[in-house]
Amino acid sequence: MACMLGTTIPASHSSSSSAWLPRCVQCPPRRARPSSRRVGARAAAAAAAGVGVAGVEEQQGEQLKWVRRSHYCGEVSEAEIGLRVRICGWVALRRDHGAVTFINVRDHTGMVQVAAAEASSGGAQAVAERLRIEYVVAVEGTVRSRPQGAANTNLKTGSVEIIADKVEVLNPVTLNLPFLVTPLDQSKNVISEEVRLRYRHLDLRRPQLNANLRLRHRIVKLMRRYLEDVHGFVEVETPILSRSTPEGARDYLVPSRVQPATFYALPQSPQLFKQMLMVSGFDRYFQFARCFRDEDLRADRQPEFTQLDMELAFTPLEDMLELNEDLIRLVFREIKGVELPDPFPRLTYAEAMSKYGSDKPDTRFGMQLVELSDVFEKSSFAPFATAISEGGVVKAITVCGGGKSITATRLKKGDIYQEAVRCGAKGLPFLKVAEGGEVEGSTALKSSLSCPETRDNFLAKCDAKPGDVIIFANGPTSLVNATLGRLRTLIAETSENLIDKSRNDILWITDFPMFEWNDAEKRLEALHHPFTAPRPEDMKDLSSARALAYDMVYNGVEIGGGSLRIHRRDVQQKVLEASGLSAQEAEDKFGYLLEALELGAPPHGGIAYGVDRLVMLLAGEKSIRDVIAFPKTTAAHCSLTRTPSTVDPRQLQELRLQCTIAHP
Ligand code: AMO
Repeated sequence: MACMLGTTIPASHSSSSSAWLPRCVQCPPRRARPSSRRVGARAAAAAAAGVGVAGVEEQQGEQLKWVRRSHYCGEVSEAEIGLRVRICGWVALRRDHGAVTFINVRDHTGMVQVAAAEASSGGAQAVAERLRIEYVVAVEGTVRSRPQGAANTNLKTGSVEIIADKVEVLNPVTLNLPFLVTPLDQSKNVISEEVRLRYRHLDLRRPQLNANLRLRHRIVKLMRRYLEDVHGFVEVETPILSRSTPEGARDYLVPSRVQPATFYALPQSPQLFKQMLMVSGFDRYFQFARCFRDEDLRADRQPEFTQLDMELAFTPLEDMLELNEDLIRLVFREIKGVELPDPFPRLTYAEAMSKYGSDKPDTRFGMQLVELSDVFEKSSFAPFATAISEGGVVKAITVCGGGKSITATRLKKGDIYQEAVRCGAKGLPFLKVAEGGEVEGSTALKSSLSCPETRDNFLAKCDAKPGDVIIFANGPTSLVNATLGRLRTLIAETSENLIDKSRNDILWITDFPMFEWNDAEKRLEALHHPFTAPRPEDMKDLSSARALAYDMVYNGVEIGGGSLRIHRRDVQQKVLEASGLSAQEAEDKFGYLLEALELGAPPHGGIAYGVDRLVMLLAGEKSIRDVIAFPKTTAAHCSLTRTPSTVDPRQLQELRLQCTIAHP
């Protein structure tokens, strides 16, 4: 084929993607790109099936068109100079310069400049002039080097442009665009998230969100390859219409039509199914599992989210942790180029709560909680002395340089004070360390430290120096830890330089208590879930037993959690009893599991990762909504499809359901 610019390409030349490209006699044969090959193969198949993929030019008017491209926009490079190409995509920009109209055409690979000149034989400029932003177009033309000084170094394709002789509108935009498809950072402040979610399809066209979903795909693929190819895991799908398993949140219920007055629950996790797969002998199971939890939403929670769920039989704790460390190290290495420590550091739950006031501590900064009960045991400051005499504690955190960065208003009635109150604190005592080591604050607290020896001991324990602020909490240990843990995080998040953002701190939290006290229901409640095995040495007193459970925490976010499980019926029954279930209730709720444990259940355990959270962290995003294609709002609403919605009364009738209130 000769280099014939402007020649229409016969449909019969469409058996391979590059076949229609006239090859310039001076150019070397065009290297077939894998991506182009794929496009061509699909087109050939479609043509064979009678779909008019290649006959673009023959299709005119308002017919639907299916065009085949030769190159992706971001792939056009100096290697194509002199070649005819056809690109497809969206108009990102149009500039009219009289005799020439420039358009930038964008697809998911990038953007390329197209120049349509008045002199063009195919009437390209006449079409280009009428183009508007986000029109869907196909452009044919010849690639050339941009003229001297006209290269755009910000663009991957910036050294070339396509001289168009044919511009086709495949679909115009007929509504007003709710926003421009600009990079997210430029528009984030202007466009509310509500609008972005309402037009999610448009928002996802943005390079950043598009890249986030592609990153997610790479991470999932990497994990899948590792589990399947390196460790022989088998992916098994478990039911979505299932029975509820207690994971601590409310269930989403689905009424049964054929068995009126009964309900399925959407799975909060595949926990019991994966345990039963171990009984079935699968040995190593995994699944990218959709989970559903009706709970209060936050930046890192969605009502519908994805877990990488796995379970292994005959695998002791150390092997379980090692395999998972290898998996996460691989992901960080491949995706972020970061080498995580080997082995991961570990903290017991008790250590984490005592030092950081959190079971998912961000260890990228210090500000650890310091116990000061011995300093204030006989203090003249009544709240502290009383708390200690009642069996509680006094602890504090020292904010380095806080004298300048933290205003008294924040501590007396602002965000820091409010957060402490939300955690259950009755007040927020604090002191500032002045030059010379004097302390400044409320008279009563200050005078309780008037003895220089006591004060020096106190300042040494707090590792405090002039310019620092010391914030206290007093009362029951759990309340004090939780309060200071929250304040530690709040202060770090609202300070500019406290967190070293370049760090990648990952660790295991181990030895969680089996149970915590549920004050509302006046009973013990499993901290992880009631299928978690207690440490064998703690079996005598289950109420205070530690669990063989582990959470993986990255930069203060829980990315995964799991445990070794109970594989004997007698132990499982004891644990269910300890959490307040009678033998009958245990049988009613979990009879099928108890039965399975008696039919040859191997020792087993597992873990589940929050895929959305992990991707969010690896993508450097602040919300999991930015790594989920179609997320819900914080009110659990899908603005795009307007879900949840009312349903046809006949549907309710069939289900024998009645709404007791009308939808507003
Ligand atoms: P767990 O409840 O700890 O364990 O969940 C595992 C991981 O899932 C993620 N996650 C969430 N992500 C987004 N939105 C949510 N609402 C949400 N809830 C949890 C977290 C968490 O670490 N069956 C057990 C696992 C096991 O024992 O094997 C389970 O589901 O990153």
